[in-house]
Amino acid sequence: MTPQQHSTVAIPPPPNLKLDDPASQRGIALQGVSKAFGSKVVLDGCDLLVNKGETLVIIGRSGEGKSVLLKNLVRLLEPDAGQIWVEGKEVTGLEHDELMGLRKQFGFLFQGAALFDSMTICQNVGLMLMEHLDWSKERILTRACECLSLVGLEDANDKLPSELSGGMKKRAGLARAIVMEPEYILYDEPTTGLDPITSDAINDLILKLQRELGVTSIVVTHDMASAFKVGNRIAMLSKGRIVYVGSVEDIKRTSHPLVRQFIEGRADGPLGVF
Ligand SMILES: Nc1ncnc2c1ncn2[C@@H]1O[C@H](COP(=O)(O)OP(=O)(O)O)[C@@H](O)[C@H]1O
Ligand SMILES: [Mg+2]
Repeated sequence: MTPQQHSTVAIPPPPNLKLDDPASQRGIALQGVSKAFGSKVVLDGCDLLVNKGETLVIIGRSGEGKSVLLKNLVRLLEPDAGQIWVEGKEVTGLEHDELMGLRKQFGFLFQGAALFDSMTICQNVGLMLMEHLDWSKERILTRACECLSLVGLEDANDKLPSELSGGMKKRAGLARAIVMEPEYILYDEPTTGLDPITSDAINDLILKLQRELGVTSIVVTHDMASAFKVGNRIAMLSKGRIVYVGSVEDIKRTSHPLVRQFIEGRADGPLGVF
């Protein structure tokens, strides 16, 4: 497929993107969010709604800007243009203290788990509590153990990250993401690099956290088995925009050419090979 052929494919508009009044949304709303690095445009007028209580999965090829999108939400990266609302509050203009408050509502599972190598798992999980709350050591330890047990890692408290398998590291990262009792969890490739059985255990955990903690989540992945299992809705990011949003049933049936090519994992199609 040549670049010229890309533009000949008629791409249907994305459904379910009703952004009439994003400020009234109870979840997360993005409108026209753009982000470039130098001359490289990554997000290009991105619109998205995440309803309170749902798990929205974002799929898309490597390098499309999925991690950049998540980081923009909590302003680990600053959007160049557009607006982002959380619970109807516009976050792009928040000052330092309000921004810190917003970040406390979010748990972030980073792509590589991002644990501190020299700290035990328990210390990693308790770090945010130590930095942000005036709690006793015992209380911090109890809360960290609680979170580790929620992710099935109760026996790993005193281990160092280097002593854990890939799946255990992800679970430890997840324990750390939930330690502040967030209302929102952002998962960046939670199953990438894991074997199918460990991946499924992580999927079960994502479902469990949604069920037991009532969190609203965004899961970035290119693992379609995971997307189908954990997602209430699935959105596809391509060329800086959300080009499709639909339920799992919708996406399985869709004839949208970009989505079909992606979920079937075909090299031939409008997405091209590189
Ligand atoms: N901090 C940064 N500085 C410069 N370029 C970046 C930065 N973060 C991401 N990028 C670029 O933005 C693009 C999208 O990256 P990313 O969001 O990580 O993709 P994905 O998560 O979809 O694989 C890539 O080309 C990447 O190199
Ligand atoms: Mg990424």
